[in-house]
Amino acid sequence: MIKLVAVFLWQIIKQQNMQLLEKTKIRNLELNNRIIRSALWMNMADKDGRITPKLYTVYEELAKGGLGLIITGYTMVDANDRPNPGMMGIYDDSFIEEHTKLVDMVHAKGTPIALQVAYGGSQTNHPDYQDAILFGPSAVENRVTKITPKEMTKADIEHVVRIFTNAAVRAQKAGYDAIELHGAHGYLLSQFLTPFCNRRTDEYGGSIENRARIYVDVIRSIRQAVGEDFVVMVKMNHDDYMDEGEGLTVPEAIEVAKILEQGGADMLEISGVNETSGKGIGPARTKIHKPELQSYYLAPTKRIAEAVNIPVILMGGNRNFKRLQNILNETEIQYFSIARPLLCEPDLVNKWKADSDYKPLCVSCNGCYRPGEVGCVVQERLSELRLKETSDC
Ligand SMILES: Cc1cc2nc3c(=O)[nH]c(=O)nc-3n(C[C@H](O)[C@H](O)[C@H](O)COP(=O)(O)O)c2cc1C
Repeated sequence: MIKLVAVFLWQIIKQQNMQLLEKTKIRNLELNNRIIRSALWMNMADKDGRITPKLYTVYEELAKGGLGLIITGYTMVDANDRPNPGMMGIYDDSFIEEHTKLVDMVHAKGTPIALQVAYGGSQTNHPDYQDAILFGPSAVENRVTKITPKEMTKADIEHVVRIFTNAAVRAQKAGYDAIELHGAHGYLLSQFLTPFCNRRTDEYGGSIENRARIYVDVIRSIRQAVGEDFVVMVKMNHDDYMDEGEGLTVPEAIEVAKILEQGGADMLEISGVNETSGKGIGPARTKIHKPELQSYYLAPTKRIAEAVNIPVILMGGNRNFKRLQNILNETEIQYFSIARPLLCEPDLVNKWKADSDYKPLCVSCNGCYRPGEVGCVVQERLSELRLKETSDC
């Protein structure tokens, strides 16, 4: 009875107090507000993963835009594993200096920044790296890339744990406020959760505890290396959207979230879709202009947030400030991440601060996925029109 009353009172206090634009703190990470830039690969690093002047500018613009936290695009942890061209690297110590410059630039504008790190394995689109020895939980051909990975031995698993840990240590040295493990979308870590990719019969396969074990190994190893202050985040799927029996399901994802909390994760960003499914779908949905199509992972993310006691980030189709404010007050979800609209308007949060009814220009067309550098086609069209307007005057 006392517990029920306490929960009821907490709900009332929470409803009165939670604000999208309030500052919060997780370990040593101070977020300016609850709106986060979700990881977005720009295809702008050089062939070795070095940060180019253009990429510095992208992050500087984001840093000025009023965000609570920036998460970088996915970054390589191994010189031989290159999921996509133009990704940043952090696979040896020589990268620390340029990442320090990036972090200092972002911090100078008052915004914290987390580094997202990924190992691609068979989910490797880079044409020059498909013949490298790429690890996977089992030697199962990827339906999209047609790459069959090397089934990882225990030593290979330890190697991957070590390279993620080394990357986290470098990120900490460079001054990043947090690290996010890319554990979603069909990259190596998430393949362990996916029955179609993971046929193992040892302690890394079978039950959901076993399939999530590599995440826990990585988180624990990172925690040991970086100490207590540094924040460790995980991006994970709530569902693989694969055929029955092939993919991770929502009830399993809820168990995974609990396991990751137990394992020491500080924050979970909830995504969806295993891109190796071959269904041609991804986490960036198109045609979401109607309000009811926005925040499209709300229902499963809500369930996950109710099951854990660490902050959960709602991702995918977040486009309406007032709607997010309501979700904050009506659910256990505490943070919201946004990717594509910030390509078009890196200052979107500042615009929302000035006018909470402001409608982002992003039409979720996925025109940003195109050959060459990632960019917003709406923004480019607008610039062309503005140029024309001024020349017509
Ligand atoms: C061009 C592009 C690149 C992306 N790169 C990454 C990435 O590096 N890491 C990641 O976890 N997700 C990546 N995503 C997915 C986004 O983080 C996000 O989950 C997705 O776009 C849905 O959110 P949105 O509706 O706010 O765009 C990318 C999406 C796009 C469109």
